[in-house]
Amino acid sequence: MTVHALVATLSLISLSTIFVIEAKANNGLLTFKVDMIHRDSPKSPLYSPSESNLNRLQRYFDYSIARVTTLSNNKLVPTTVVPTGGMFLLNISVGTPPIQTLAIADTGSDLTWTQCTPCPSCYKQDLPLFDPHLSSSYKSLPCHANPCVALGNTACSNDRNICEYNYGYADGSIVIGTLASETFTFYGGTTTTTTTTTSSTTTTTTFPRLVFGCGHNDSGTFIARETGIIGLGGGPVSFISQIGPKIGWKFSSCLVPGNTSLNTMTFGGSVSGEGVVATPLIRAEDKTYYFVTLDAISVANKRRIPYNDSAQANNTGNTFIDSGSYFTVLPTGLYNEVELDLREAIALKGVTLGGLKWCYKSESLEGFPDITFHFRGADVVLKPVNYFIRPDGDETLLCLSLLPVNGTTTIIGNRAQINFEIGYDLEANTVSFKPTDCTKQL
Ligand SMILES: *[C@@H]1O[C@H](CO)[C@@H](O)[C@H](O)[C@H]1NC(C)=O
Ligand SMILES: *[C@@H]1O[C@H](CO)[C@@H](O)[C@H](O)[C@H]1NC(C)=O
Ligand SMILES: *[C@@H]1O[C@H](CO)[C@@H](O)[C@H](O)[C@H]1NC(C)=O
Ligand SMILES: *[C@@H]1O[C@H](CO)[C@@H](O)[C@H](O)[C@H]1NC(C)=O
Ligand SMILES: *[C@@H]1O[C@H](CO)[C@@H](O)[C@H](O)[C@H]1NC(C)=O
Ligand SMILES: *[C@@H]1O[C@H](CO)[C@@H](O)[C@H](O)[C@H]1NC(C)=O
Repeated sequence: MTVHALVATLSLISLSTIFVIEAKANNGLLTFKVDMIHRDSPKSPLYSPSESNLNRLQRYFDYSIARVTTLSNNKLVPTTVVPTGGMFLLNISVGTPPIQTLAIADTGSDLTWTQCTPCPSCYKQDLPLFDPHLSSSYKSLPCHANPCVALGNTACSNDRNICEYNYGYADGSIVIGTLASETFTFYGGTTTTTTTTTSSTTTTTTFPRLVFGCGHNDSGTFIARETGIIGLGGGPVSFISQIGPKIGWKFSSCLVPGNTSLNTMTFGGSVSGEGVVATPLIRAEDKTYYFVTLDAISVANKRRIPYNDSAQANNTGNTFIDSGSYFTVLPTGLYNEVELDLREAIALKGVTLGGLKWCYKSESLEGFPDITFHFRGADVVLKPVNYFIRPDGDETLLCLSLLPVNGTTTIIGNRAQINFEIGYDLEANTVSFKPTDCTKQL
């Protein structure tokens, strides 16, 4: 086993002065936390101050529907999830010296990639293209290399013995390029470095020799400010699978309400402590997707509304916890029953607003019921903030962020994930939920 070094960079000190700290916490495993930059937050280069909240919501609505349609069509072995659903960006660097990229964090796909020179057919991007010739750590992969075989849909360039991939997404986007390995650098918030002290400086965590795609022909729904994808799925070539042994096969997220504090993703470390519940993680055949089993939903503890499908009965996973969908999407039958109980519990007259089926005039969420999602072995209680949104900054309007869709798969959207530490443990095969004030994260 190699020793995994943590390189901490203090912002006041020039970059040439670096401290190398050996990670000793968790039996030598690494734990590091990074910001998940919401694509529409002021910190994001995708932020468009002139776009109205309502317009934003319409986009989120379209993403959510697109993603569930993709998943439902082909239930457990879906093709890769729509990349436009990319809601969170990670600030990472590639190569030596490091070149900045802002890549979509996608739990629904495996391949990590960025666009490289020469690029005869790249989509236009704002940041400079990555030039492998200028990086001393770049190495293309030969055709017989394991990742080349494991990724699938690869070909060998006859003359050069270089692995070429062709990776398709469900919305028709295609990325084509050279499979290679590189050094990746993550800029984090707090990193736990020893069992006794927690450092709260800005840290830099570096991984050498990560397999990634150097894109030369990429087309589809990508936009200029996105410079690639970090594949957080569970397949053999994903970022998570590659760094898995170093982080104990664990990662977690904590999403905040509003835009005043930061969403975080933590690689390594368990979600534990008071109030944690865990449900079995169901891996699809190709291991990319993280499914869980939802048995029932109840509103205000009134009655259990059963999910009622065969995947649930067989415990093969019927629910996808999504990094890219804003809304929570339920099969129509289930949604209708939930709505029925909600209407009974909330004695206010509803209005519709575009695609949002169900809005209320109300200034406060006071007295609104909790909704319990009964995952197998884990009851997760959603507060009104998890299932209501305020569109267009209108302080009196509340809209339900649950949507009905024809299909059999449920998607747990970003809104429902607010103020939960959600931990994926690919070793124990569990997904854990811990109610947490994510704005109070270090
Ligand atoms: C990304 O990280 C670098 C290095 O810490 C920093 O200079 C840059 O401002 C960050 N960019 C964003 C969009 O957060
Ligand atoms: C790019 O890929 C498309 C298929 O997605 C192909 O038709 C086209 O010829 C390729 N372009 C180049 C320059 O290789
Ligand atoms: C933050 O959110 C509030 C409430 O939704 C909104 O009024 C404000 O414009 C947002 N700020 C930025 C910088 O996006
Ligand atoms: C669940 O399925 C059973 C048998 O298929 C059916 O009798 C029952 O009405 C269904 N319940 C709901 C809430 O759809
Ligand atoms: C669930 O199991 C039943 C009986 O074993 C089988 O007929 C059905 O196809 C299974 N459903 C799924 C989604 O695997
Ligand atoms: C959902 O299914 C119902 C009944 O089969 C159909 O009337 C409706 O148009 C469908 N909705 C969508 C969005 O496909």
